[in-house]
Amino acid sequence: MKEIHKDIWDLALPYLEKGLRKDLVTHSKYVFKCMEILLKNEGGNKNILIPAAILHDVGWSKVPPEIQINWRNSEDKIKGERLHLEYAQQIIREILGKTGYHEDETNRIIDIVVAHKFQDPNELDKQLLIDADSVADAFKKQFYSDAKAYDSTPEELYNFRKKNKFYTKTARRIFEKELEMRKKEFEN
Ligand SMILES: [Fe+2]
Ligand SMILES: [Fe+2]
Repeated sequence: MKEIHKDIWDLALPYLEKGLRKDLVTHSKYVFKCMEILLKNEGGNKNILIPAAILHDVGWSKVPPEIQINWRNSEDKIKGERLHLEYAQQIIREILGKTGYHEDETNRIIDIVVAHKFQDPNELDKQLLIDADSVADAFKKQFYSDAKAYDSTPEELYNFRKKNKFYTKTARRIFEKELEMRKKEFEN
């Protein structure tokens, strides 16, 4: 990890640790890792997308716990998703302000983070964050921690995750490979 990204990660960590919806520390680590792979294979703006990957879910820290936990209720689920996008903006501004990011870069990062739910963007940078966010779901530690958080069996979660859609070939390739490994694990 580059020094500046390490600084952003360290500042993001206290927020990520407050997420109750799922293990956001593990999740964000995987989204960061997937983003590095996508950047290598698909292009995209690294200076913008690495911070966007690390910071995309910091907004959950300010979503009321009862809303985070009540994801089975579709109204609260959507409310939580909306709020995490809204709260992310101020937190990202504070964190990036401390690490010396320029305002125009910060605005662009926020723009991309805000587009990771409820949108079907045409811009590659926005698509890459959505892809990295979904690919992360298939990695081992996150997959089993999600199964626990969502009270599902690995098989149920596998059948649900299988429906994930992707913008890029690289994302689909990594996702399918990882998900096949999960299938082998629970079938054995
Ligand atoms: Fe999110
Ligand atoms: Fe996420």
